[in-house]
Formats: sequence, structure tokens, C-alpha cells
Amino acid sequence: MAEKAWGGRFSQATDQRVERFTESISFDARLAPFDIQGSKAHATMLSEVGLITADERETICTTLDEIGQEIAAGQFEYRIELEDIHMHIERELTNRTGDTGRKLHTGRSRNDQVSTDVKLFLRHSIDQLIDLLEDLQEAFVDRCERDAEVVLPAFTHLQRAQPVMANHYWLAWCEKFERDRQRLVDCRRRTNSCPLGAAALAGTSLPINRQRTAELLGFEAVSANSLDISSDRDFLMEFVSDLAIIAVHLSSWAEEWILWFTTEFNFISIPDAFTTGSSIMPQKRNPDVLELIRGKSARVIAANQHLLTLTKSLPLAYNRDLQEDKIPVFDANDTVTACLELAAAIVESAELNVDRINSRLEEGFLDATTLMEYLIKKGVPMRTGHETVGSLVSLCEKENVRLAELSLEKFQAACSSIEEDVYEILGVRNAIKAFVSEGSGGPGRVAEQVAIWKKRIDERS
Ligand code: ARG
Repeated sequence: MAEKAWGGRFSQATDQRVERFTESISFDARLAPFDIQGSKAHATMLSEVGLITADERETICTTLDEIGQEIAAGQFEYRIELEDIHMHIERELTNRTGDTGRKLHTGRSRNDQVSTDVKLFLRHSIDQLIDLLEDLQEAFVDRCERDAEVVLPAFTHLQRAQPVMANHYWLAWCEKFERDRQRLVDCRRRTNSCPLGAAALAGTSLPINRQRTAELLGFEAVSANSLDISSDRDFLMEFVSDLAIIAVHLSSWAEEWILWFTTEFNFISIPDAFTTGSSIMPQKRNPDVLELIRGKSARVIAANQHLLTLTKSLPLAYNRDLQEDKIPVFDANDTVTACLELAAAIVESAELNVDRINSRLEEGFLDATTLMEYLIKKGVPMRTGHETVGSLVSLCEKENVRLAELSLEKFQAACSSIEEDVYEILGVRNAIKAFVSEGSGGPGRVAEQVAIWKKRIDERS
């Protein structure tokens, strides 16, 4: 049992099945750089408060850096008997430095250590994800130049509803991803307090300086309660639920573009580099990437459930169940990272099929609501206007014409308030100009929003 860091009180070797069952090195090895970062800060603090000497600190930090380089270069061997990344690194340090290495774990436990490592990982991941969300927003905003004149039908219930500028669509996605970005910024703020020094669950009798370790690791604060710290996984639940929302947003965007990519819609072309073929139907071009972005949201939603279920009903403080937290966190992180990267690439490279969109723009009475509002402006009560336009649409359907093609006589037969100027608001291009309210999809308001977004993107870079 000499092999085990905790082997002192044990007289029997661990059953091999237990070793295989309890290990986490198969999934926590990626924490290595953060474990080393945390240990170096801890060693520095220990030397400053006199628990180890400056020379010992130097030996520990240099050796940890060497180990880190070997791990990064793939020259490090993992063994399940050593359980997890923390034990691997500490054991290797001890192998190389003897008693000096045996001092590193002073005033610390794996419980506060693992929490610190995961928080450092999370901070790093959040920064990367924020960059990726910003890249995706930028890809949408970059489209605004080329799609500035394009008008699209917007849908409710997937039925043609009212026209909007294409850029209104792009910025709608930007807004959603902006809330996602802000949620991550928020999550980072709450994550950014240092667990180290909580030790197992009660703190320590040794004269450690937690403020100093926190400062060395760039944490904004020291987490307050050692019992809370050992059991706290809120930051992970928050992170993964933020990711689940991103994944859900991506799935809706992907679904929309999958529809737009069908022969029936034919709104959009996606370059060959981002589509795939069929092994049996030679003519096919499939939006597999979009479908997988849509499909992979399931994993992230499941990861969210996984973490909540894992932590539900756990008593204070650390329980080994918590080791399993990393599996959903890493999976959700990697999945959303990959989805965001590809989403940005597709948004950047796709083209709207403007001729095709325009050729069908006058279908579906996209100008009907504008006509109703025209009646309201003429003093007709809203409900009466609604009925009147409803009956006019029904008349058009019978005669197979558009609202703009009805004669003034027919309009006036339906409602005497309608005058010659009605033709100025009919037809999709006219109808869309009528949208002037703040946040609407009309050209003026959309141009305002595009300018705001461009400025925002410029200021970021
Ligand atoms: N591998 C463990 C985990 O990921 C590290 C903490 C172990 N703590 C303990 N008391 N056994 O949670």
C-alpha cells in the first residue's frame, strides 16, 4: 500500500476492480496544466508563510514545470492505481524531489485542489467560449453589408407572417447569442473565487494565507466557508446550464437553416465544404453539419440533467459522487465549442438565394397586417380592420390575386375609409417600409441596429 498517497492505514492491497472503478485519470488528465498552476501558487504561498523554504519552493515549481512539459508533449505515463491527475503529478514530483515533494500537499486536500483546478479550467473555457460567441456574432454582422437590401418573409407557426429585412434575422440571432455571452460573463464572475485552503472540509490549523493563493491565481476573492467549498458545484451547474441554452439556441438556428436549405424553401446555399453527400443517392447534398449541431444539443441538455441529478440530495461536504462532475462538464464544453466554431464558418460562407426569395416574396399576403394598420390610421377600430382585411384576403384567394392587385372599387366596397393612397403601402417592399417602431424589422430601424452592432464588434477588437 506504500504506493497510495492514502495507504498508511491500509493493510490490504486495493482490489483491481476497485482501482478500475474509482479512477478518474481517464477523464481528468486534461486538468494537468491547471493542477500545476494551482500547485505552484500553493507552493509559493507555503514558502511565503514559512511552511516550506524558498529553495523547496524553487525545486517544486521547476519540477512541476518539467512535469507539465512532459505531459503536454505526451511523454507522461498514466497508471490507474494513481487514481487521478492530482495524485499522478504529486507522485511524480515526489519521485523526482523526495521529501521536498512530500511537502507540497501541506494545508491542502484533494477536495479543495480539484475544485480549484476545475475553476481554473472553467475560467479558461469561458474565455474561449466568449470568443467563439463573439466570432459567431461577428459572422452575422459581417453578412449585414451584403444582405442589406434583402427582404425575407418572417414566420410564426412556420406560416408566412410579415416581411422583415434579412438583417433583422441576423441580428435576432446576435441578440440571443449576446444574452448567452452575458450569462457566461456572469458565470465567470461567480466562479472566480478561490477554494484553496478549505482543505478537506474544515480548513487547517496551519498558518496558510488564502488571500495570497487567490491573488497568485488571479481569483477575485477567497471562497468563504470551507464546508461549502468542498461540496460546491454550483459554478458547474451554472456553466452547463448556460451551455445548454447556447446549444438550444444553436439547434433552433440550425433547424431554420436546414429548412431554408430544402428544395421547398431554397432560401440559402451552403458551400460544398460544409455539406455532405449520400452513399446511395448521387444527387444529394445534405446539411449534416447543421443537423449535427441540432442533434448535439441533446448531449448538452443531458449534461445539464446529469450534473443536477448527480448533486441532488448530496449531504455536505465532499462525496466521491462529485468526481463524476467532470464527465458532463467536459463533454458539454467540447460539444458547444465545436458547434460554435462550425456555426460561425457556415454563417460566414452561406449565401442567400435572393432571386428565388424575391420570386416568391409576394406570396402569403405578407402585407395584410400593414393594410390593417393603414385602416387603423384612417380611424377604423382595430378589430373591424382585422375583419375587413380578412375578408379582402379571402376575396384575393378566390380571385387568385394579391392585395395590391385589387381595384379601388373593391377596396371601397369592403371599407369606405380606403383611398387611393392604399397602394403606397401594399406590396411587400412598401409594407416593410411602414414598420417604424423601435426594434421593428423595417429598413430604418434595422439600419440603426446594424450600426449599433457594427460599433459593438469594432469596439471589441
Ligand atoms: N478525483 C477526485 C475528484 O475528482 C479528487 C478528489 C478526491 N477526494 C477524495 N476525498 N477522495 O473528485
